[in-house]
Amino acid sequence: MNKPQIIASLAALCLLGAAHAQNTDPVEIKVETKNEIAAIRPNMYGIFFEDINFGADGGLYAELVKNRSFDFPNHLTGWVAWGDVKIENADPCFERMPNYAVLSLDGNSLTGTGLDNEGFKGIGLKKGESYRIRFYAKVPRGTQTLQFELVDDRNNNPVKAKIEVSGDEWKEYSLPVESTFTCAKSRLRVRLASKGSVLLDHVSMFPARTWKGREGGMREDLAQALCDLHPGVFRFPGGCIVEGTNLETRYQWKNTVGRPENRPLNINRWNYTFPHKLFPDYFQSYGLGFFEYFQLCEDFGADALPVLSCGISCQYELGQLVPCDELQPYIDDALDLIEFANGDPSTPWGKVRAEMGHPEPFGLKMIAIGNEQWDAVYPERLELFVKAIRAEYPEILIVGSSGPSASGDRFDYLWPEMKRLGVDLVDEHYYMSPDWFFANAGRYDDYDRKGPKVFAGEYASHDQPHGKPNHFLAALSEAAFMTGLERNADVVWLATYAPLFAHKDAWQWNPDLIWFDNMTHIVTPNYYVQQLYSLYKGTDALRTSSPQSDLKGGGNLYATSAIDKQKGEIIIKIVNSGKQARPVTLTLDPGKKLRQAYAYAPAARSIVMQSDDLMAENTFENPDAIRPVEGEVAVNGNQVEFTAKGQSFNVIVVKISEK
Ligand code: AHR
Repeated sequence: MNKPQIIASLAALCLLGAAHAQNTDPVEIKVETKNEIAAIRPNMYGIFFEDINFGADGGLYAELVKNRSFDFPNHLTGWVAWGDVKIENADPCFERMPNYAVLSLDGNSLTGTGLDNEGFKGIGLKKGESYRIRFYAKVPRGTQTLQFELVDDRNNNPVKAKIEVSGDEWKEYSLPVESTFTCAKSRLRVRLASKGSVLLDHVSMFPARTWKGREGGMREDLAQALCDLHPGVFRFPGGCIVEGTNLETRYQWKNTVGRPENRPLNINRWNYTFPHKLFPDYFQSYGLGFFEYFQLCEDFGADALPVLSCGISCQYELGQLVPCDELQPYIDDALDLIEFANGDPSTPWGKVRAEMGHPEPFGLKMIAIGNEQWDAVYPERLELFVKAIRAEYPEILIVGSSGPSASGDRFDYLWPEMKRLGVDLVDEHYYMSPDWFFANAGRYDDYDRKGPKVFAGEYASHDQPHGKPNHFLAALSEAAFMTGLERNADVVWLATYAPLFAHKDAWQWNPDLIWFDNMTHIVTPNYYVQQLYSLYKGTDALRTSSPQSDLKGGGNLYATSAIDKQKGEIIIKIVNSGKQARPVTLTLDPGKKLRQAYAYAPAARSIVMQSDDLMAENTFENPDAIRPVEGEVAVNGNQVEFTAKGQSFNVIVVKISEK
């Protein structure tokens, strides 16, 4: 045997030993604190938002009224009308949302005339909270009175507020109301309280308290939950939503900016995608549009990563193609979006942004073209985008797609194509089993370091046999897998879990990171894993090894470590996926007992997620079943000894100072 063969055999023996190691055996993990193997990008861990599971309308977008403009194809979806109510569209208030209701009342009506809105699976109202009703109206003659009512689920003692409307030109009205009750399934009612007619449009109600106090803005608790993830990157708006079932229903960002009242409605593709989960009342108002998105990115300190249609509608559905020689409007959409984000207010789209209240550029750095595309039709089109974007905005990073799955023919075809086109990052999607996630902690170890970087743009552990819950097993497998993302941070630049939100009464897809109802939300074990990786990412991954394990699942152990040069910390993440507790010795600067690289504080922080029950979930009844628990472990010289409990994800943070 020559020398390399001997080394290879010894390495194989070591790995064999690791595989056969008893789950209770002590393990040493060596952290080479001066041996940086990859710079970790400050924006590495982020969020991916798509309007699925009523994530935007009915979710993050705090509007409480569904079909506020009567422009759903069935104009009274969400409303119960009584008395004399008609829908008309002559001389509209908003030309792109032309329909409005005409309420009329004469002296002979027994019932009166009115409309009652059911909200999104009800309207969540809280006692003592203020809400703002806003609407547009005109009256053909004289002055009319409208009475708005907040109605609880038992139809008892509504809160009433009257307002007079007059004038035969459309005018905006606003009235504050305070709820005297708490009810998740309330309704908003409007009655015509005088004889005559009123034309009524865009009947809206928001909580007075929204994220950052923005009128007509985002739901405060949900935006805060996103902010608390400390996202470095924010992918938006999809997902399949971008592609559309057909080209006509694709996401067109230009329809989502300007006055919210005049943003044209689009059907949400998750309305009908799953026949066993039909939501005929699911549409996109675009109240959460591209301006609001960029604003949220700014709020969170996250880099925006918008995704645009590449001229192919969803290939799982119709796969409609825009001929390559007719692609220019789509390419213009991409160029114009960059101008909308970054252009000077003297440019056409920079002006739109400035008029919406943000003269400063948003500082867009990257753009993705296409979502889950495949076959030659995709690179053919992407190439034209790449040429145009490079020519006008060479500084913008371009993200291409590797298709809908983690491997297979489409994936194998697209990666070389992405290299050929010279995109900067390739978006990979994988919704796989917990076993797959545990087995793939080494996925990126052998990736080409010279090609495009990886954006793990959609991933989540799907335990199909158990109904794909957000249970601890899924979260633990993601934590294990993510050790490999961190270790390979030189090639994996960005990562975002998917999907982000789900309304507990109106979801199409699970698992999801954050669940909400009309009153509150809960976060999942998966959320905490994302949060811990984001909060404790460090600046550079360090060489990490163990004599007992390959730290990619050998002996049920996974580990990675990083240094945070700004905070002065060494961060070690360890997953013990076995049932038994493992005594762990962390040796910092192995082999340098007398010459440590740093001085280490005598106590380290530990943040641990653990459960004996892999099926444990956070629920609305028990939202804290799984959450990280903070503790302390002693540091002796350059060693930390602690026990990695069975089925645990551990983050150990050691403060360092220069010697
Ligand atoms: O995240 C849900 C869906 O999964 C996305 O819309 C799509 O990109 C993927 O298939």
